[in-house]
Amino acid sequence: MRAAWWKNALVYQIYPLSFCDDNGDGIGDLSGIITKLGYLKDLGVDVIWLSPIYQSPMDDNGYDISDYYAIDPVFGTMEDFRRLLASAHSLGMRLIMDLVVNHTSDQHSWFQEARKSKDNPFRDYYVWRKMPTEIQSVFSGPAWEYDPLTEQYYFHLFSKKQPDLNWDNPVMRQEIYKMINYWLDFGIDGFRLDVIDLIGKDIDNFRLCDGPYLDERLLELKSNCFVGRDVMTVGETPCLSIERVRDVTRGETPLLDMVFQFGHLALDEIPSQGKWALKKLDLIELKRHFKSIQNGLENVGWNSLFWTNHDQPRAVSRYGDEAKRYECATMLATSLYSMQGTPYVYQGEELGMTGIRFSKLSDYRDIETKNMVLEKSSQSWSIDKIMESIYAKGRDNSRTPMQWDDTIYAGFSLNKPWIDVNPNHMEINAKKELADKNSVFSYFRNYFKLRKTNPLFMTGHFQLIFEDHPSLFCYLREGKEKTLLVICSFSNNWNSADFQDIPKGKWLITNISEIDLGAETTFPPYFAGIYEYDTVKGTN
Ligand code: GLC
Ligand code: CA
Repeated sequence: MRAAWWKNALVYQIYPLSFCDDNGDGIGDLSGIITKLGYLKDLGVDVIWLSPIYQSPMDDNGYDISDYYAIDPVFGTMEDFRRLLASAHSLGMRLIMDLVVNHTSDQHSWFQEARKSKDNPFRDYYVWRKMPTEIQSVFSGPAWEYDPLTEQYYFHLFSKKQPDLNWDNPVMRQEIYKMINYWLDFGIDGFRLDVIDLIGKDIDNFRLCDGPYLDERLLELKSNCFVGRDVMTVGETPCLSIERVRDVTRGETPLLDMVFQFGHLALDEIPSQGKWALKKLDLIELKRHFKSIQNGLENVGWNSLFWTNHDQPRAVSRYGDEAKRYECATMLATSLYSMQGTPYVYQGEELGMTGIRFSKLSDYRDIETKNMVLEKSSQSWSIDKIMESIYAKGRDNSRTPMQWDDTIYAGFSLNKPWIDVNPNHMEINAKKELADKNSVFSYFRNYFKLRKTNPLFMTGHFQLIFEDHPSLFCYLREGKEKTLLVICSFSNNWNSADFQDIPKGKWLITNISEIDLGAETTFPPYFAGIYEYDTVKGTN
């Protein structure tokens, strides 16, 4: 039986550009991360996931790699990385890297060669056609770029500086496996696989997402790289339905240990109109979604639990009320992480960091945001509408520097950072929260301590209750002996529900105060708590 240490692990995502700048150039780096390992350990982190640190022109902040075998100099050296890995290991933490193999940078030597001539040995590492098709890139505009040198178009699902690799080419695939094995042999503990559901695509038949070759490619990848190694894999798979997540994560040796599924994050978007078309979240829809995932994967595959990452807005600003930041941040954590799956915390989430509202467009850095501004302006969106969309969904919301203290650059750097700090770092920062036992940070630390010691978080059967309540998200995690009752309020008002049938038990944690459960129990705004009682025999 494979020891699935990653099932009960707390994974913490670091976006290296914005985490901690040690050498004072305004950009986060590896030696900065090393200085914060104690902080992560204190929080209860088991696994660190690093967003890409490979050599990159940074057109998409490292998700455009020009050399898979080199560390980008802004982050440090290979020696720094070795030191980071060894330091993390010596503290009992593991480290996984980001693996971006749907595309490279256009500065990668493979692409530089490929574009030279049609018969270059690297030509077929990428996708070239005489005529473009209708496909649009994720970052706006057509997915085909004309290259005058050889008079053909190359394919790029993201920016034109991110040409897609040709996964139909077995020689290219072997090169990728070699690189993956290099890093695994180096001693890292696994990978987060960037947009990995795109590698099975059939471009000419417009089957891009979850394409026809996905499972065979994942199997080949696993057989060449992961089998026989005690590592974890988590795939970013925005396209997979729940049925397909079951296929990919099922069994003792799944294709991927778990995936990031994005269904819950699509619920505040107007269906099929893309991320900028906003609608209000309907909690009932959210609960049903979680229910289908929880029940769909139970005893089959494994979940990952996340509200946010470097592509998503900050959860407190997105789903809560910044004026009740503590309550919202702790409630959101409790509601999410008490389900079955591996919990992921994105840097600053444990402080309840909020989104950013820059007044000037020129303060924004993200390529997706910049391209969107061009596109939407040409579709005559007003500047106000554009700004509101960026405030709500722009990726820079979560990319402002980590707020360590209340000094001018938030303790992130001694010099002006590559992207401005959020002015609220005077109020919201790690230094202050570490000293306050009623802070978001303290709650996260206590919460994860509890989560790790109570096996019901791993194994309890998920059962949604009060499914139609518009404001309360309540569910059970049922075990043979004990049951957990999770009660979370997604509302800024007081809300009540009838708990008179719940057996007498005790609160394990609450974010505000313990409340007597009975008929018509009323909960304050953004209340969260976990109540444990003896399982009533015969009902389970
Ligand atoms: C993933 C990454 C995102 C990146 C894109 C292209 O979605 O999370 O940041 O822009 O892939 O690599
Ligand atoms: Ca630096």
